[in-house]
Amino acid sequence: MTERNEGNIMEVRDLYVRFYTYEGVVKAVDGVDLDVLRGETLGIVGETGSGKSVTTYAMMNMVPPPGRITRGRVVYRRDGKEFVLTEMPESEIRKLRGSDISRIFQEPKAALNPVYKVGDQVAEAILIHRLDEMKERALETLKSERGVFPSLSRSVIDRSLKFEGDPLVRLLKRIPLLRRLYWKPIKREARKEVVKLLGLMGIPDPDRVYDMYPHELSGGMQQRIVIATALSCNPQLLIADEPTTNLDVTVEAQILELMKDLKKKFGMTLLYITHDMGVIAEMSDRVAVMYAGNIVEVGDVITIFKKPLHPYTKGLLEAIPMPGRPLKDIPGTVPNLINPPSGCRFHPRCEYAMDRCKREKPKLVEVEPGHWVACFLHHDQAAEVEEG
Ligand SMILES: Nc1ncnc2c1ncn2[C@@H]1O[C@H](COP(=O)(O)OP(=O)(O)OP(=O)(O)O)[C@@H](O)[C@H]1O
Ligand code: SF4
Ligand SMILES: [Mg+2]
Repeated sequence: MTERNEGNIMEVRDLYVRFYTYEGVVKAVDGVDLDVLRGETLGIVGETGSGKSVTTYAMMNMVPPPGRITRGRVVYRRDGKEFVLTEMPESEIRKLRGSDISRIFQEPKAALNPVYKVGDQVAEAILIHRLDEMKERALETLKSERGVFPSLSRSVIDRSLKFEGDPLVRLLKRIPLLRRLYWKPIKREARKEVVKLLGLMGIPDPDRVYDMYPHELSGGMQQRIVIATALSCNPQLLIADEPTTNLDVTVEAQILELMKDLKKKFGMTLLYITHDMGVIAEMSDRVAVMYAGNIVEVGDVITIFKKPLHPYTKGLLEAIPMPGRPLKDIPGTVPNLINPPSGCRFHPRCEYAMDRCKREKPKLVEVEPGHWVACFLHHDQAAEVEEG
């Protein structure tokens, strides 16, 4: 992949993730290299179990146990600064998660807490990551209010802004009535912000929806709430992990449109994970194709669709249902990653497999500018590019 590049918001280098299970070690991600360019929508596509989610968990250094990053480097860049997520302490990474790098989870039901109002769940994220901003807005609003209580609120909030550890503020926050004077105006601002955000999500009557519980909303509406939570802190990089799974096609189309619209409005970089080539075509500027823990092809969306080179990418494209064309499946199944195939992990399913493919793992090489392939069939082409 390209060397140090200021245009990259994120770089993944030589990344390995393993899950240590009773059945054995799952080699889930095996030497992934990937650049995410600032401002783009990068689609990650591959069959189930190919390592899409795990790779992007590793990009936030939040691989769940019993998984672990065993090798590699993940670098995030912002304002000329470089954050090496694979080397930073957890307390520092936590500051970036949510505020800089945010994630929409695969399953909205799992992401929402059934016993809290949906609006409060979005507000919580705002109060964690944008507390000072909410305090400042509260001070502005309180300026126009007369009376003892608003003026008391103003002075407590003002002191806490100047010095969070102020002993008087700490003491006041322990007294129920005074704690209310501190939190009520701040929460009022957070609520306003949530209602605005829910409106942006295309949710009708957002003020009423704020006070609803997840079970009172449809799957599509729940997913809009999850997206609102992910966007509530204006992230630079949003990772959307199959956000339309389990939604019917019309709702899926609405969510895809919403995501495109929000990406423009928020000016963020989007990493969109899916197993659906149709969604990739709709959403992506560039595409990374994953198979069994490896990235096998990367290129811009037109190149991938018009001139795919890796036999697996070709298989995925031929499996898209088209009127007047018989459906063609990729033969075989995704391998078990406890004992993955030797050499090229795709070789048991590849109609072009050669002896060499069983012994050696093909590197991801650039066969033309911006088009990378991990397949021996195209390594000569890569050598020509290098010589030329
Ligand atoms: N908690 C876990 N314990 C053991 N193995 C895991 C765990 N999570 C993921 N894996 C394994 O890691 C590999 C990659 O999984 P991952 O969830 O990244 O796939 P995916 O491409 O996101 O699939 P899907 O499209 O189904 O979401 C799979 O072999 C999976 O079984
Ligand atoms: S390296 Fe060999 S097995 Fe792998 S995709 Fe290419 S031809 Fe097929
Ligand atoms: Mg997944």
